[in-house]
Amino acid sequence: MSAERFDKKRTIELRKRHIGPSCKIHFSHDPIKIVQAKGQYMYDEKGQQYLDCINNVAHVGHCHPDVVKAGAQQMELLNTNSRFLHDNLVLYAQRLQATLPDKLFVCYFVNSGSEANDLALRLARQYTGHKDIITLENAYHGHVSSLIDISPYKFHQLSDAEQNQFVHVAQSPDVYRGKYRADHPDPATAYAEEVKDIIQRAHEKGGKIAAFIAESLQSCGGQVIPPAGYFQQVAEHVRKAGGVFIADEVQVGFGRVGTHFWAFQLQGEDFVPDIVTMGKPIGNGHPMSCVVTTKEVAEAFMLSGMEYFNTFGGNPVSCAIGLAVLDVIVKEDLQGNALRVGRYLTNLLEKQKEKHPLVGDIRGRGLFIGLELVKDRLKLTPATAEAQEVIYKLKEEHILLSADGPHRNVLKFKPPLCFTTEDADLAVEKIDHILTELEEALGLKLHNAVNAENDSSKRKLPSDENGHQYHSGLVHNTGSSPGVPQQTKKTKRIKI
Ligand SMILES: Cc1ncc(COP(=O)(O)O)c(C=O)c1O
Repeated sequence: MSAERFDKKRTIELRKRHIGPSCKIHFSHDPIKIVQAKGQYMYDEKGQQYLDCINNVAHVGHCHPDVVKAGAQQMELLNTNSRFLHDNLVLYAQRLQATLPDKLFVCYFVNSGSEANDLALRLARQYTGHKDIITLENAYHGHVSSLIDISPYKFHQLSDAEQNQFVHVAQSPDVYRGKYRADHPDPATAYAEEVKDIIQRAHEKGGKIAAFIAESLQSCGGQVIPPAGYFQQVAEHVRKAGGVFIADEVQVGFGRVGTHFWAFQLQGEDFVPDIVTMGKPIGNGHPMSCVVTTKEVAEAFMLSGMEYFNTFGGNPVSCAIGLAVLDVIVKEDLQGNALRVGRYLTNLLEKQKEKHPLVGDIRGRGLFIGLELVKDRLKLTPATAEAQEVIYKLKEEHILLSADGPHRNVLKFKPPLCFTTEDADLAVEKIDHILTELEEALGLKLHNAVNAENDSSKRKLPSDENGHQYHSGLVHNTGSSPGVPQQTKKTKRIKI
């Protein structure tokens, strides 16, 4: 079968006509048409190869043959719902449990990260009998109504946004840009105290806390690594208020952080969430996801009297694929690779920080790394336009990277776990070159970085994927969109 059914121009026309305009596309000025992928590489309709630094869904590598085979073989045999007994379902639940703390052993299988988080909220509310949810600033937990309500990343984009009365937003535990920074003697306690205050204020208004929900490492929120001990203290405050702790591992689970299989484990052995949600990498691109919880929470959910049924969740094909993903992680030591290559890449990026004034911070664990660009290392002025410039220039070099965070100035590395040190060398070499050009155009040197934001030589850049225009020191060669207003503060963005 030909990989292309239409030429690229026709695909764009049809997409514009038939696909909802709020479904955004990468590099909207010159989108990429990908027709094939393997490992950490993607290929366009002309057979050109792109190095994929962003697709954490293709966790064990795009189209991994073991995963494809497991899905195809099971599809030939049977696919049906979980109302019939099937060994794949129980075997997968057992294998997943073996990666988790003992008390987390009851699974609900669903089909997307959003479904998993929506169900987690239902479990929490049923178990506690409470309604209020505490979420983090800049968090994203999914696209369904219940989750838009707890996703400031999304609801802040609405000009007429009204915060749901049951939702409370806590500070993001960001020690680089947040309220309490690395120079604070105990940022974990300080951020946890903020949650305690929120609980108290909610109680004063008659609210009752059902759950605190957070990604174990904030992803869309700007690759934020919470200080160690923060989750333990938050869990203590929340449980004292009768609530539960939900860890969203949709982006960061399944060995990505290298030292541990789950990112919440970075906080220490003494921290165990009450509910864990999983998605994206779990099926390497096949739509499946899962909620794992304790016996107590699951029993309380059952006592509501309502059956939980999910047509596709936990079907034999999904579970066969999930099992193959777990097998490949072990067989190819991908968690170990995430640790080794992640350290290698982090070291390379640290050297970029020594060299380039635009690099404000490097942070990450394993193959989940953020590079925050700033125009001023003291004021932390976000280098939003420059981040856009870097990702567009990298795309011209056939390297796919994205920028995120509240200011869209954090370059996010979250590649398939088969990423190699050679891939890291290539990506950093190109970033080095692009940053050098940018800094030359801006007249920016390490010692005068502080003044860079006042530089008058700024030239116009095209608008980004969402139509926002930025300024940096370089002219971009993929066309421009005159007349689009400048935007440097909170901006809409596409997520991957
Ligand atoms: C942290 C997090 N949770 C939940 C979701 C929702 O997952 P899905 O898009 O599969 O519904 C996402 C999606 O990006 C996510 O990043």
